[in-house]
Amino acid sequence: MTVTVRVPAKVNVQLGVGGLRADGFHDLANVFFAVALGDEVTATAGEPGTGVTLSCTGPDADAVPLDDSNLAARAARLLAAHHGLAATDVHLHIAKAIPVAGGMAGGSADGAAALVACDALWGLGTPVEVLLELAAELGSDVPFALVGGVALGRGRGEILEPLPVAGSYHWVFAVADGGLSTPAVFRECDRLREEAGTGSGDTEVATPDADPALLAALADGDAVALAAALTNDLQPAALSLRPALAATLRAGTEAGAIGALVSGSGPTCAFLAKDADAAEAVAAALRASGSCRAAHATYGPVPGAAVTAGE
Ligand code: C5P
Repeated sequence: MTVTVRVPAKVNVQLGVGGLRADGFHDLANVFFAVALGDEVTATAGEPGTGVTLSCTGPDADAVPLDDSNLAARAARLLAAHHGLAATDVHLHIAKAIPVAGGMAGGSADGAAALVACDALWGLGTPVEVLLELAAELGSDVPFALVGGVALGRGRGEILEPLPVAGSYHWVFAVADGGLSTPAVFRECDRLREEAGTGSGDTEVATPDADPALLAALADGDAVALAAALTNDLQPAALSLRPALAATLRAGTEAGAIGALVSGSGPTCAFLAKDADAAEAVAAALRASGSCRAAHATYGPVPGAAVTAGE
């Protein structure tokens, strides 16, 4: 038996970062936006005694860890443990299109997809509220990959509120050479705040809130207003660790993008275009600029992890 699940990547159209909490996380006002650039995870029943096994294909497959740290494998084990299943013999194949360690929640997406795929393969019918709890245990960005669309993430990003959104938006993602470590980017954000003298703790940094102008732009389907409201509090930290990203952002803007920002903790750069043709032109200009390894035109919002095929 086989089940295939398609799962979207995310870009944060707003990433408001509060102070460092005692538990090592930061409180966020995180507006997640799911895009059609996505991975596919296929779960196949394994031979008895094989446990959870993994394989991966795609341009970045070599960079994907296929050991126990992989979020898809952890998701399969967590779901099995939650239901008290004795046997967890499953092979998970990841067809990877989301940049690895790119700030687009690719690993989280694979974790969410594995939850949905194994739930279907094992005929568990786990309620969505339970899947969301298991997802939050796996990582801050995993619940959103289940939900998709556009949603406000509070807490460390796992407390989700779906947001109203009109229309479709055209995006371009410029993939950098090599990834950035999310904890390292948060640490650099704290360091820059200390250096600036504002402090980095959660008693010193105001708790961030969703920007009303950004929420109105999304509800109105107004791409120009959304472009003007794009913000990412991690962007200075990503640029500090990877100064070359400034040239990538400039190349996309010069090619006609109406908005540009680093995606999440980076190093992928995200560009909003006024329509599909403009997005293709921005992607072509980015490829020609030599300021990124690859550029993909895509769109959103799209739904969260969902079964596409099974037999
Ligand atoms: O939740 P997840 O495992 O994806 O987080 C990875 C790391 O990113 C955390 O260990 C933490 O260093 C950082 N992080 C954070 N604040 C958040 C989310 C993640 O500091 N809200």
